[in-house]
Amino acid sequence: MSSPDTTGGTARRGFLTSAAGAAGALALAGWTATAPSGASTPTGTTAGTAVGSATGTRPFRGRHQSGIIDHPQPYAAFVAFDLHPDVDKDALRRLFVVLTDDIERLMAGRGSLTDQETELAAVSADLTITVAVGARLVALAGATPPSWLAPLPAFSIDRLEERWGGGDLCLQVCASSPTTVAHAQRRLIAGLVTLASVRWVQRGFREPFEGPGRPMRNLLGQVDGTIQPAVNGPDDDLLWCGASAPAWLRDGSALVVRRIEMHLDTWDAVDRHSRENAIGRRLDTGAPVTAPAGAPAETAADLFAKDSLGFHVIDDGAHMRRAHATAPHERFLRRPYSYDDVPPPGKTSDSGLIFAAYMADPVRQFVPVQQRLAEKDLLNIWTTPVGSAVFAVLPGAAEGHLLGEALLGL
Ligand code: HEM
Repeated sequence: MSSPDTTGGTARRGFLTSAAGAAGALALAGWTATAPSGASTPTGTTAGTAVGSATGTRPFRGRHQSGIIDHPQPYAAFVAFDLHPDVDKDALRRLFVVLTDDIERLMAGRGSLTDQETELAAVSADLTITVAVGARLVALAGATPPSWLAPLPAFSIDRLEERWGGGDLCLQVCASSPTTVAHAQRRLIAGLVTLASVRWVQRGFREPFEGPGRPMRNLLGQVDGTIQPAVNGPDDDLLWCGASAPAWLRDGSALVVRRIEMHLDTWDAVDRHSRENAIGRRLDTGAPVTAPAGAPAETAADLFAKDSLGFHVIDDGAHMRRAHATAPHERFLRRPYSYDDVPPPGKTSDSGLIFAAYMADPVRQFVPVQQRLAEKDLLNIWTTPVGSAVFAVLPGAAEGHLLGEALLGL
């Protein structure tokens, strides 16, 4: 076997002529509007069956990158990088040549150029690798950053740790197999090793058997992800950057990653009624507490309903009330993953939510909601944001083009 090329350089010239990745892989854009309020729910699976398949592929080429509006695969790694200090615009071009080639190959189930474990790569398992950039990378490329590409304002509930924030580049790696995620992550890091070093990695998971009748549940046990914008339709301008964004970002998006710790030890002490009150939804079905027993999660909430004492049935501090959009633009696509790491001494868990959300403009859409939650949200008793980062998600790469081509002005 020839020795692998770890330079990520000239050996990649063939990328422009490589076969189209993910052939025949028009995998599900599995979110459809179903609820009267314009909510969307993930579809595309058979009840009770695993979400993905071992050789499933999702498209790499296209107007938008995969890994955003398609059905969330059960395993994810968010990998943030710092560019080496000597990286200049020419080095950035090499970086995007390497990334484009590696991602196209990996998503198609072929090993990256340096891959010696191609059997692992062959289990494509619905792999998506979504590329997003930070402000420093945009500046190095000589491009104009969108006004929102900066850390979010500080919120009173934040207890941010340096180790979960920032980064010049972020790769969201998602697949139906944890082995596929681990393999892709390592190949991507290897491809970039001369240009960038890993700043942080956040690994997450969802229910592998998610599907109709088995919704996403977070580690507080709640049905999570019911109210979403309708994608592939009227809410597209909430998701994709349009004419008001710099030209290199059109059809791209923004990615907000908040790492939110859950205090499961104190949550354990809370009775079921108080748990439902904190969110404003039932634990069994995920339906609003104003809906009758057995009603589906998508049942419209009655935010005005009052009990016999004149109090709102959905508590004034309930998470769903506080997070609910007060204007049509205060909406975004949530694509969260749970995490579960080693418990510190004296605690039973180090768990929480990797709250990943996509939108066209975080300052306009996300910040007002996060601000309301910081001011008053019963969930704050049991959750603490410990990490925060904002990235600009590149548009998809058309056939024969590089990711980041417009950013570099090529
Ligand atoms: C650990 C932290 C969090 C947990 C456990 C959590 C959990 C939930 C759950 C269970 C729901 C109800 C079901 C649904 O519609 O998905 C919900 C709704 C929602 N959450 Fe969160 N969430 C968290 C953090 C956040 C953050 C940081 C934001 C944004 C700043 C947010 C925004 C929303 C929105 C917009 C809704 C829909 C509200 C509506 O219109 O009904 N959540 N969340």
